[in-house]
Amino acid sequence: MRVDLLIRNIGELVTFKEGPLRRVDKDSAGIIHNAAVAVKDSKIVWIGSDSDADRYEASLIINAEGRIVTPGLIDTHTHLIFAGDRSHELWMKLEGRTYSEILEAGGGIYYTVEETRKAPLEDLVGDALRVLDKMLDHGTTVVEVKTGYGLLYEHEAKLIDAILELKKRAQQTVIGTLLAHVIPREYKEKRSEYVDCFTRRLVPLAAEKKLEFVDVFCDKGAFTVEETKKIISWGIRNGLKTRLHSDELANIGCSRLALEYEIYSIDHLEYLPESIIPGLAMTRTVATLLPTSMLSVFADKKPPVKQLRKNGVYLGVATDYNPNNMNPILQTTLDLAVYLLGLTPLEALAAATVNAAWSLDLYPDHGTIREGAYADILIWDYEKLSQLSYIWGYDRLLTVITKGNIIRNAL
Ligand code: NIG
Ligand code: FE
Repeated sequence: MRVDLLIRNIGELVTFKEGPLRRVDKDSAGIIHNAAVAVKDSKIVWIGSDSDADRYEASLIINAEGRIVTPGLIDTHTHLIFAGDRSHELWMKLEGRTYSEILEAGGGIYYTVEETRKAPLEDLVGDALRVLDKMLDHGTTVVEVKTGYGLLYEHEAKLIDAILELKKRAQQTVIGTLLAHVIPREYKEKRSEYVDCFTRRLVPLAAEKKLEFVDVFCDKGAFTVEETKKIISWGIRNGLKTRLHSDELANIGCSRLALEYEIYSIDHLEYLPESIIPGLAMTRTVATLLPTSMLSVFADKKPPVKQLRKNGVYLGVATDYNPNNMNPILQTTLDLAVYLLGLTPLEALAAATVNAAWSLDLYPDHGTIREGAYADILIWDYEKLSQLSYIWGYDRLLTVITKGNIIRNAL
């Protein structure tokens, strides 16, 4: 059979072909030794033992030289579309001001909103595309992108259009989310009017423009649980799927919503109450950890990783790239998930591939190396799997492939 690309001589191929994992170990990860993968027309058409690969004739053969091959990384949480710079806030935080204090004083998200409203669509798209390229170069083959720095209808509409442009123009797969971020200053004294406007006008617009998700920053200083319920139930009625910012700054009861509604992911979770964890393990919800975001807010608490693992809750890891947290490189985030939060390297990898695909409702098309999935494939400069996140702190990729396109290849 003729194929476009054959990757041969793979030392260990991590397929994650069993699907999203509540417990990640070498047995559940679907590892094949001495493997090969064939790609045709953007999809994986065959995986198997290298000794069976001779029957394929390929336009291009990459010899992986015994290295590790995995699915492409998936970043399920980014605020990629914004203008302006908040470097001054790093200094404020270092002097002891908290993230919440800066926000309450009209900085933080409010500062970025001012800048983003002024920026032309083309500038926002151009900046975001440059970051997407950097992400892809470092192995991120699927990226979720949120609105959220417009707040008012016309400005959020511009950000929805920016996401549509990214979907068309980015080399990797882009998933779009309408985010209810904070109450705009214009509506400070009339919160319920804003929530009504968001649900009745922005939610249907996002659905009509085919964004996939609605998300709410449900936390102290942002939206209450009641407001969040209104937004997500309206979102679900309009055909949008739901994800939430939850328990980052305080426990206000937000994570309980994952027991009442179908929530694909709850993210942050520093203040996640342990009592809810057994219930979460009965849902499809992914608990997504954002270690670089924790560092950027100088968080004083960590999410309850051991309890989540013990109960078998799906774990995810994402960058939360935003103007308060300017690291777009998911490789770094995964290393920090290991060293800061105690995930095993294989758990961190699953969290940003197969479990991430599950959280974006993209499994089995993405996040796994299996026949019929998109050819989002990485070759790592690791000689054995145990070196994952053991060697860290720089870009370890030799080859990046997205939807069958070779973005770079050092082999
Ligand atoms: O996920 N927590 C809320 N939203 C973003 C931060 C946005 C910002 O500070 O601009 C987050 O961390
Ligand atoms: Fe966020």
